[in-house]
Amino acid sequence: MPSLSTVSAFNARFTPSYGIPVAIFVGGTSGIGQGMAEAFARHTKGNAQIVLVGRNRAAAEAILARFPKPTVGGVKHEFVECDVSLMKNVRLTASELLTRFPKINFLALSAGVLTLNGRNETEEGIDRKLAVHYYGRWRFIRDLMPALEAAHQAGEDAKVVSVLAAKHGGKIDLDDLGLKKHFSVFNAAMAGPTYNDCMVKGFADRHPGLSFIHSYPGSVNTGLLQNSNTAALRWASNLTPFLKLFAYSFEAAGEHQLYALLNAKPGAKLTDDKGAEYVLKEGYFDADAVERVWKHTEEVTLV
Ligand SMILES: NC(=O)c1ccc[n+]([C@@H]2O[C@H](COP(=O)([O-])OP(=O)(O)OC[C@H]3O[C@@H](n4cnc5c(N)ncnc54)[C@H](OP(=O)(O)O)[C@@H]3O)[C@@H](O)[C@H]2O)c1
Ligand SMILES: *[C@@H]1O[C@H](CO)[C@@H](O)[C@H](O)[C@H]1NC(C)=O
Repeated sequence: MPSLSTVSAFNARFTPSYGIPVAIFVGGTSGIGQGMAEAFARHTKGNAQIVLVGRNRAAAEAILARFPKPTVGGVKHEFVECDVSLMKNVRLTASELLTRFPKINFLALSAGVLTLNGRNETEEGIDRKLAVHYYGRWRFIRDLMPALEAAHQAGEDAKVVSVLAAKHGGKIDLDDLGLKKHFSVFNAAMAGPTYNDCMVKGFADRHPGLSFIHSYPGSVNTGLLQNSNTAALRWASNLTPFLKLFAYSFEAAGEHQLYALLNAKPGAKLTDDKGAEYVLKEGYFDADAVERVWKHTEEVTLV
């Protein structure tokens, strides 16, 4: 169980031999993604290409303004606007990023919403919450793969982390992938994390040498409650002074999650709130599930 000081010290030692790393934080405009991006900027002393992807430009610009300024010419920290609940947006943004970054070293995906409302379909027929927690993440990884592979082929880091709820999923209905037939708040809460487990396994099988992590961040004091579209959850944000007593700050969670990313060995990994690997005795998905989820996702996100 690495402590905060251990993981910060580890992260501070990150000095890539290949020069300026490229890191993309989808969901880097708030909460855990912001914490990761800030830690990355601090440990690289600003000498990293950093892209924050999200909807809130004002939040992004405030975060970027506080990053240490790069001392190497041509290095930029920037915001790219994208509502990731729509696959057509994800595809467009990914293709624009690909033209600009032939190599990508780190991709962190943490865009999320907290809602207890029922199924809410986007114009593409995907439930909004599953789109943000899973489908959009899958499509980002898939479409940015040429740049991740190029980094790996050049002997550089090529690592992806999806921050959601590793080890907290449940059994999924392989005949109702996407939950069109039997959507419930509970089924969605079980499916999102298990789809993410299948995602990291599916990508690791196809791309040996790269790292794909699904992490569980623990309880983190972020804007997730305040931003909820469920009134009871917004109300619960009044409890934050109390929640703070046992929740991680977003800064601490950011260090631990960045550690999970920087420390990852090749393959599919599930990591915990400290950034350490989970030891899984028994899974609720198998190779057949991984392939069926893969095929389903390929179809649903191909717009
Ligand atoms: N906080 C916790 O205790 C906790 C516990 C377990 C799991 N998690 C998971 O961890 C992840 C991060 O949560 P957090 O606490 O950091 O949340 P947060 O502070 O509310 O941040 C959520 C991020 O997601 C982005 N986002 C949401 N919907 C988006 C959309 N449609 N398009 C683009 N970006 C979108 C937001 O960016 P914009 O506002 O710029 O759109 C923001 O950067 C979530 O998946 C959450 O389920 C959190
Ligand atoms: C569905 O999502 C849209 C966009 O986020 C939101 O405006 C609307 O209130 C949601 N509907 C329900 C029933 O949650």
